[in-house]
Amino acid sequence: MPTDTDAYRPRNDPPRVLVLSSSPRRNGNSRVLAESLAEGAGEAGSAVELVHLPEVVSEGLRDCRECRGPNGECTIDDGYRDLFLDKALAADALVYATPLWWYGLSGHLKNFLDRMFCYISEGCPEAERVMSQLVGKRAALVISAEESNFSARLAVVHQMQETCRYLHHTLVGIVVGTGNTRGEVRDDPTEPLVWARELGQRLFLIRTTDYQLDSDRAAAVWGGPERPPPGHWR
Ligand SMILES: Cc1cc2nc3c(=O)[nH]c(=O)nc-3n(C[C@H](O)[C@H](O)[C@H](O)COP(=O)(O)O)c2cc1C
Repeated sequence: MPTDTDAYRPRNDPPRVLVLSSSPRRNGNSRVLAESLAEGAGEAGSAVELVHLPEVVSEGLRDCRECRGPNGECTIDDGYRDLFLDKALAADALVYATPLWWYGLSGHLKNFLDRMFCYISEGCPEAERVMSQLVGKRAALVISAEESNFSARLAVVHQMQETCRYLHHTLVGIVVGTGNTRGEVRDDPTEPLVWARELGQRLFLIRTTDYQLDSDRAAAVWGGPERPPPGHWR
């Protein structure tokens, strides 16, 4: 009976947070949001690493039948293997930072997600171990976009929500900032940098709820300090 994630405990001490910054603009808007979130997570005591995804993952998914080596391993020669197997699997939380591109997520982040397939599909000798380490993480999402239109971001939110559901990850928060020129998201009066930082601080405290008719729950949503507040959508 799904209730909430009050009992969530990270595997590592301190908890590990991997931030995947997926815009090629190093000083761009989604990167600024990602850095704020990373700062907040560090303030809360997490061990944080921020990766500039376009520099590490240069290739998209191919036909696995053509590029698996004789032992079944993916032979695409870029930084994906180390990033995914050493850093992403070891993390307690994955943070995705993306600009809105054509009402979807960046191609670089899409490549990161697509390439997981090489390591979890039947042809991969490590698939079972990979899957057991992949499940049970927290996730957060930050998005920057030029348009302020709320629905423009919904495809990204939906894709990441479903991806997290599939992976047994809990998407604990989303922050959206509006801006177009590099770093302009700092001028957004809704203060997305402040919210991103706060999301980072509370990454492992946020209680997410997903009730069913018969779920046990308190009538009041906003309890005392012993009951952390629910999800974070800004
Ligand atoms: C290829 C491309 C497609 C884009 N598509 C959209 C879009 O559909 N809607 C939108 O609001 N902004 C769109 N933008 C603008 C970016 O989302 C916006 O400038 C964002 O803040 C860039 O983030 P970054 O600095 O992290 O790259 C697009 C930009 C590029 C380069």
